[in-house]
Amino acid sequence: MVFSDRSQGNMKYNRQTVLITGASEGIGRATARLFAAQGYHLILLARNLARLEELAAELSAQHAVDCTPLQADVQDAEEAWQRIGHVIEGKFLAAAIINAGVGLYGPFAETKWEDTARLLRTNLDGALACTRAVLPVFRRQRAGSLVLISSTIGKRALPYNAVYCATKQALHGFADAIRLEMKPWDVHVGVVCPARTATAFFERMTYAVPQKSRRNIPTDSPETVARAVMHCVRLRRREVVVSMVGKLFSFVGYHFPRLSDYLLYRNVPRPETP
Ligand SMILES: NC(=O)c1ccc[n+]([C@@H]2O[C@H](COP(=O)([O-])OP(=O)(O)OC[C@H]3O[C@@H](n4cnc5c(N)ncnc54)[C@H](OP(=O)(O)O)[C@@H]3O)[C@@H](O)[C@H]2O)c1
Repeated sequence: MVFSDRSQGNMKYNRQTVLITGASEGIGRATARLFAAQGYHLILLARNLARLEELAAELSAQHAVDCTPLQADVQDAEEAWQRIGHVIEGKFLAAAIINAGVGLYGPFAETKWEDTARLLRTNLDGALACTRAVLPVFRRQRAGSLVLISSTIGKRALPYNAVYCATKQALHGFADAIRLEMKPWDVHVGVVCPARTATAFFERMTYAVPQKSRRNIPTDSPETVARAVMHCVRLRRREVVVSMVGKLFSFVGYHFPRLSDYLLYRNVPRPETP
C-alpha cells in the first residue's frame, strides 16, 4: 500500500507525487494544500496557468515540495492525456485526483447543445482521458490510488441538473469497472461525492435559464472535501460521501426512490419556462 508508511518518514515516500486536476480553484486547490502539507510533490492541472503558478509558488515555499503547474484544457481529451503522460514520466505517482468539472443548470429541454457538449467534454471525456493517462503508470508501479470526484447528485439525480448528474453517475460505473480491471496491480480506485461545497462553482456554471432561488441547504468547506479525498486515498475506500446531509440524501435516494422523487419534486424550485 502506497500511503500507509508515510508517517514513518521512509525516504522512498518523499519522492511521491500526486496529480490533481482542477487544482486552480475550490476543492482541487484545497486538496493540493492538504497533500502538500503532508509532504507530497504535486502536479497541478487546470487552464488558468497564472493561478496554478501562484499556488505552486505558495506550496513550494511553505512545505518544500516540488509543484509542477500543468496548463491543460481537459475538454481536449487527447491533448490532456498526452500532457499528463509527458509530465508524470519518471515520477512515482502515488495518487491522481480527477476533480476538474463544471456545472450546467436548467431544464434539459431548454439547454443549448453546445453547453451540453462542453459539460460532457469536461466532466466525462476529460475525467476518462486523465484517468487513461495515469493507469499505465499505476500498473507499472504496481501501486497507486485513483480518486474520481463525483457528487451526491451523482448518486441521486436532481432535476434541472440532468446532464451534470449524468456525467457524475457515469463516473460511478466507470470506477466500478476499472476497480476490478486494476485489482491485479493492487491499484485503488475510489469515488468521492461532495455535497454542496462553498466554492466559485456556482458562479462559474452555465445557466440555461435563470435560477429562481437557491435552495437553503448546508454547505461544506472545500477543506472538508479535501480531507475526504485524503481519507479515501489513505484507507483505500471505494466511495466516500461527504457530510451527513450528503449521506442522508444518497440513502433516501437509493432505498426510497419514490419518496425521494416526491420530496425533490415538492422542494426543488421550478424555473420559469415558456
Ligand atoms: N462545489 C460544489 O458544490 C460541488 C459539489 C459536488 C461536486 N463538485 C465537484 O467538485 C469538482 C470541483 O468543483 P469545485 O466546486 O472546486 O469548482 P470550481 O471552484 O469551479 O473549480 C473547478 C476546477 O476545475 C477546473 N476546470 C474546469 N474546467 C476545466 C477544463 N476544461 N480543463 C481543465 N480544468 C478545468 C477549474 O480550473 P480552470 O478554470 O483554471 O481551468 C477549477 O480549478 C467538480 O468536479 C465538481 O463537479 C462540486
